[in-house]
Amino acid sequence: MNNDSLRVIDHPLVQHKLTLMRMRETTTENFRRLLREISQVLAYEVTRDLPTTKVQISTPLTQMSSPLISGKKLCVASILRAGNGMLDGVLDFMPAARVGHIGLYRDPDTLEAVEYYFKMPSDIAERLIVVVDPMLATGHSAIAAISRLKAAGATSIRFVCLLAAPEGVEALQKAHPDVEITTAALDEYLNDHGYIVPGLGDAGDRMFGTR
Ligand code: URA
Repeated sequence: MNNDSLRVIDHPLVQHKLTLMRMRETTTENFRRLLREISQVLAYEVTRDLPTTKVQISTPLTQMSSPLISGKKLCVASILRAGNGMLDGVLDFMPAARVGHIGLYRDPDTLEAVEYYFKMPSDIAERLIVVVDPMLATGHSAIAAISRLKAAGATSIRFVCLLAAPEGVEALQKAHPDVEITTAALDEYLNDHGYIVPGLGDAGDRMFGTR
């Protein structure tokens, strides 16, 4: 595992909220709210090194030179369906970002990702794409989504998740070494069904109440 391209958010409030999310008795309503809150922090971290340039402005009191974001514009790419649970929180922090969606399902036998939907802004080559999906498990969905984005012209991509398994991190880093990964926690391992352990179960089912 390459720790240079992996950022694990070590913050007491994030860890506290994540513990609540892991608990099996946490309600759908609370699960969704906690995911939104943690996603705000993840959005903060993934954008922490965006370039800025100083511009001259007038405050009500005086003039000053003050920074504005100067690099590529942002686009959030949600891997359906669980990625949508992170969208509101990420967009709270970067409300002007464009939003794309990538529909992938996991073949239950092979655990491979199969695409059924892809809709992104036409100018993705000029944007920093922040791919969101709460669970980086086998890495198949993330790898397929990022390959698809690159094939569509994206050149600058970051991946954000809530929980990652070491197997998923390694697979994603191997397939896309240029893509930085930001996560709230790195868990222990993947079980035979492709679930992250200790994990939190099926993130999509828990956020949408479809268990
Ligand atoms: N997807 C989930 O929702 N949970 C896991 O543990 C793995 C993949």
